Amino acid sequence: MTTKTVALVTGGNRGLGLEIARQLGQQGMVVVLGARELPKGEVAAEALRAEGLDARAVKLDVASERDIAALPAFFRTTFGRLDVLVNNAGVALWEADDLDTFRRTFEANVFGVVAVTYALLPLLKDSPAGRIVNQSSILGSLTTLEQTPEMFSTFLQPAYTASKAALNGFTVALAQKLAGTPVKVNSAHPGWVRTDLGGSKAPMTVEAGARTAVMLATLPAEGPTGQFFHQGERLPW
Ligand SMILES: NC(=O)c1ccc[n+]([C@@H]2O[C@H](COP(=O)([O-])OP(=O)(O)OC[C@H]3O[C@@H](n4cnc5c(N)ncnc54)[C@H](OP(=O)(O)O)[C@@H]3O)[C@@H](O)[C@H]2O)c1
Repeated sequence: MTTKTVALVTGGNRGLGLEIARQLGQQGMVVVLGARELPKGEVAAEALRAEGLDARAVKLDVASERDIAALPAFFRTTFGRLDVLVNNAGVALWEADDLDTFRRTFEANVFGVVAVTYALLPLLKDSPAGRIVNQSSILGSLTTLEQTPEMFSTFLQPAYTASKAALNGFTVALAQKLAGTPVKVNSAHPGWVRTDLGGSKAPMTVEAGARTAVMLATLPAEGPTGQFFHQGERLPW
């Protein structure tokens, strides 16, 4: 059992997820890295512990019902709580544009988020300051795409855009369902960030890209809910 704030970051073994976990750990949280291949999560958690942070890994493929079913008992028995959920795990499948691509993209980016969130919602509701951050993308901002199509033409991938727009819809609906509780739910756009997904030409570092999710994971009680942010600025849906 712990009196410290406990956070789960999905897809925490590399990229933005690992850096979000690092920055939350630096704020004194216990951070749990969800990793679909547990050994990779263990290596990443060990790296954070070597930096003096309180980190550990849990096996979590967001497409695995078995992994998700085990989560609530893991948090209750290990820590007695869960305060922050960062739904960061996601895929962008650029190689094809067909129904199978849509199914695989939605499996990770939408259904995985919904399944993990609903499994952990009772714990988050028990927290004095439950925070849910859905790692979205500006490519899921339909208003932005409609108004400035030229900005995103080289990145346009229908399955990815549709999945992040659906994720944003989940953010709004869940935040409204949880109105009147301490739990806040927001979407984050990290920026175009140098990771395996973002590629080497991306202008932002992971340190900078992680900050939007970290800000939303640490919102004060009077902070917003049901909104979409990039670096402290609201984005349109
Ligand atoms: N980088 C950008 O420019 C950018 C921009 C906008 C939004 N985003 C969003 O930010 C998030 C993180 O992106 P990133 O750039 O850090 O990508 P990344 O470097 O490719 O890392 C993706 C992470 O998600 C995990 N993952 C994928 N499918 C999973 C599943 N079924 N279950 C559990 N984990 C899974 C990966 O695990 P494995 O290591 O096992 O593959 C990895 O840990 C994504 O949601 C992405 O859409 C990124």
